[in-house]
Amino acid sequence: DSVERGEYRHYMQKEIFEQPRAVADTLEGRIGPHGVLPNIFGIDADPILDKTRGIHIVACGTSYHAGMVAKYWIEELARIPVVVEVASEYRYRDVVVPENTLFVAVSQSGETADTLAAMRESRRRGYLATFAICNVPESSVVRESDLRLMTRAGPEIGVASTKAFTTQLAAFALLALDLGRRRGLDGARYLDHCKELQSLPRYIENALKSEPEVLKIADHFINKQHALFLGRGAQYPVALEGSLKLKEISYIHAEAYPAGELKHGPLALVDENMPIVAVAPNGPLLDKLKSNLQEVRARGGELIVFADERAEMDTETAHVATVRVDGGGDLIAPAVFTVPMQLLAYHVAVQRGTDVDQPRNLAKSVTVE
Ligand code: G6P
Repeated sequence: DSVERGEYRHYMQKEIFEQPRAVADTLEGRIGPHGVLPNIFGIDADPILDKTRGIHIVACGTSYHAGMVAKYWIEELARIPVVVEVASEYRYRDVVVPENTLFVAVSQSGETADTLAAMRESRRRGYLATFAICNVPESSVVRESDLRLMTRAGPEIGVASTKAFTTQLAAFALLALDLGRRRGLDGARYLDHCKELQSLPRYIENALKSEPEVLKIADHFINKQHALFLGRGAQYPVALEGSLKLKEISYIHAEAYPAGELKHGPLALVDENMPIVAVAPNGPLLDKLKSNLQEVRARGGELIVFADERAEMDTETAHVATVRVDGGGDLIAPAVFTVPMQLLAYHVAVQRGTDVDQPRNLAKSVTVE
């Protein structure tokens, strides 16, 4: 065990630091200087992806959050409507399936009972085809899908998913770009985003350097009972994933909100005992986010901001800490900002003395309903 963990104290920490490699492996041989390479989704993929006019993404847990990020990307780049749903809801609901809709299952293990059952149910619901994004080639989800794109994260041991998530994002980015190209995405923009995606491992590598700073911030959470995570746009699912990591391994109650929704409820909870973690990438929504953060500050909330290096934020905005991260372009930024959130959850859990790799009551793969 300690041999496999090497220099790291826990598998989770090792897996967080493996992300540049895992993402590079997932992109390897799939994207080049002229764009996404042909046939990476299987030899039958072309006619199916050309015909796709709608997408339903179904998953559980962290994989569901990857699907939520993908919705922002696919709708923006390919103008194809996307519905994302947790598998346990999807399978028991009378879902409307418009013509030429692709069913996408996302699963690290490929054996999650609800995801697998949802996929089997989808066969009866008239989809164009089923597509799997999965980390285990011999898994049931992969065997039963028509098309697939394997993530190449390698074995993930920590119950709280880390490298599986960022590799799922890399896989979804490939799909979003490929669909974009088929659906009239501007050629120059397509190539820019392809280049940006290829640079993702480097940006993740760089984001890992925030660990010493994040470690100091973690102190702040040790005696807290609640935390609130805020994001906007494609960073909202990143906030959700940050809050899931924290609750899974540190047992601090955490929830995430789209920052614009703050005044419709969560603001009532904000006081000096409630740390608030905000993701502030550089982009058109930055000013709106800043005004959301002002509202938090005005109520005495303790703010921790993960801000893009280029985002204009005065240090006053966050009175606990501002961690600067170079998020890269807006396509890859959600994957990059995920990293400091994982580190935060990890170090809070370590300091609270929980069983980081095997949190109570949770399983790595939920194979029963
Ligand atoms: C469990 C794990 C999570 C994982 C979820 C979905 O809850 O603890 O880390 O995200 O299952 O698993 P899957 O293998 O389908 O991605």
